[in-house]
Formats: sequence, structure tokens, C-alpha cells
Amino acid sequence: MAAKQRISRKPPPLNKQSAKSEQKTSPEVRGKTAFSSLDWRRIIIRIAMMFAIMLVVYLSKDAPLVPFASQQENVGIRSVAVQCSKDYEEELKRFPGCTPMKCGRVVFDTLVKRSEVSALLHIAERGLALGGSSGGASILDLHSGALSHGNAFVNIFKLEEAKNTFTMEDFKIYSHVKDKIHAAIANQFGINKKDLFLTYPTFFSRITAAPPQTIHDEYWHPHVDKETYESFHYTSLLYLTDYGLHFEGGRFIFVDKDANKTVEPRAGRVSAFTSGSENLHHVERVTKGTRYAITVSFTCDPKYAIKDPTLQR
Ligand SMILES: *[C@@H]1O[C@H](CO)[C@@H](O)[C@H](O)[C@H]1NC(C)=O
Repeated sequence: MAAKQRISRKPPPLNKQSAKSEQKTSPEVRGKTAFSSLDWRRIIIRIAMMFAIMLVVYLSKDAPLVPFASQQENVGIRSVAVQCSKDYEEELKRFPGCTPMKCGRVVFDTLVKRSEVSALLHIAERGLALGGSSGGASILDLHSGALSHGNAFVNIFKLEEAKNTFTMEDFKIYSHVKDKIHAAIANQFGINKKDLFLTYPTFFSRITAAPPQTIHDEYWHPHVDKETYESFHYTSLLYLTDYGLHFEGGRFIFVDKDANKTVEPRAGRVSAFTSGSENLHHVERVTKGTRYAITVSFTCDPKYAIKDPTLQR
């Protein structure tokens, strides 16, 4: 009996095990059967919903910034045409052959020499050392003498301490570089250099991460140059320091419908563009370091022409 029991007991564990394993597997098997019908549908619906949410998030997110000219790259000359805004309509008759008919943007990386860049940077540093905004953005205009000072401006040519700051050579280099930019823009946009005039304001800028103190320190708002200065037709910038090397932030951004385009400052790089609303833009806030540049502005209206600066007063 006992042996029988033992014998008969032996199989039961097996049976139990198999029963257990059946019990274990059977729900899984049942689950698997359900998986292929109802759960699969749920999973597919969930995946589809996830994709829909991701698409909405992607579409509502700002498109990434597209570099038009990165700091690392010497682009030589790179240009792109953009459709002109209607901002010039009224002026086309008044200044034929100069008012933009073909609008666009251009970057020149081989126009200004390294020695010229360092000479101009040195002028900016010396001049701005005599003043400077209490906020993050300071300017020095060698044409008018305007120099940021605290929350206002002073005339650098009236400052006693500025008397021996600049040399004739400084002004020579400044005018020479300005002339090269003038010629390059005229050539690029197919206009006669004599129909295009340097205009106000043309100035050095120094931007740091210091918090703004006045409206003059807020350079980062998108704007149209021609709205700020009606006389503008072509705007250019000459960068004297490098993005990512001497400062962070401070990239120039064209605000476009598809994706915004950046011009990363590179020492010696000239960026030029037509000044109307086809070229809405702003400068990113500088977050670190110091950014130096020169804004060189041009008009087709001789009434707004300005002369080269001279060592004076
Ligand atoms: C472009 O920049 C503007 C201004 O910063 C911003 O409002 C806009 O969302 C940006 N556009 C794209 C497509 O990223």
C-alpha cells in the first residue's frame, strides 16, 4: 500500500507539476490569444496616438535655426536672394538704379584683412574704454562722436581724455574698410557705387551680457532696419570678434517664415542685406564675453549721405 502509495504518489508530483505548469502557461496562452486580437488593436491605437502627439509637439515647436554662415566656416562669398517687400515701391522712381529691386543677403569672409580687423578692434576697444553703457550694449560713432556713457551718450571728440586716443592711421583704415564694403555691396546688388551713400548711423558696437539699463541696451527684439531708419536701403555689419570664441549668444538671426537663419559672427566677416521687411532680424542676447562689430549703413538718398570721419577737434 505504502509502496503503491509511494508509486502512485510519484506520478502525482509530475502531474501536479504539469498541472501547475499548465496552470502557469494556460493564462499566458489565453493572454497570447487575446493579444493577437484586442490588445494588438489597443497597442496600435496607442502608438498612433503617440505619433499624433509627437507630431503636434513637433509642429508647435520652433523650427531649428538654420546656419546661413557658421563661425567655423570661411564661406568666401555666400549670397541668397529673398523676395523684396513692398517697402521700396515709393522710392523706386526717386532713386532708380539704387533702390533694391532684387533683395537678398550676402556674407563676405575675404573682404577685410586680418590686420584691418585687429586695427578696427583696437579702435573700438580704446574708444569704448572712455565710456560705455551701464547696460549691455555700447556704441561709438566716429562720424557724430556719439559714445555711450552710463545711461546716456557723450561726444567723444569733446572729451579731454579722448584727445590722443585716435591717430590719422586709425581713420584711414576705417575709411578704407568702409569703402571696400561700399564697393562690395554695390557690386553684389548690381548698383552703381556713386548712387549709393554711406548714411547715419554707422557705428562700432560692443555687447556684453550685462543686464539692460535703458531701451538702447535692448538689441535682441526682432526689427526691420528701414522701419527704424527710413533712409536705409542696405545694411551691413562687420564682425570684429568670434562667436563661440570671444562671446556666447550674439548670433545674428534673420526671422523667416520657414526657419530662422543665423549668421554667426566671425572676425572679419561682413554681412550685408537689403534693409526692408524682407529682412526682419534680431541679435540673440549675448550670454558671456564681449561682442564687437561695426554697423555700416547705406542709403540711395543723397540727402542722408554722411562724410568719412576725420581726425579733428
Ligand atoms: C524665428 O524667430 C522669431 C523671433 O525670435 C520667433 O518668434 C519664431 O518663432 C522663430 N521662427 C521659427 C520658425 O523658429
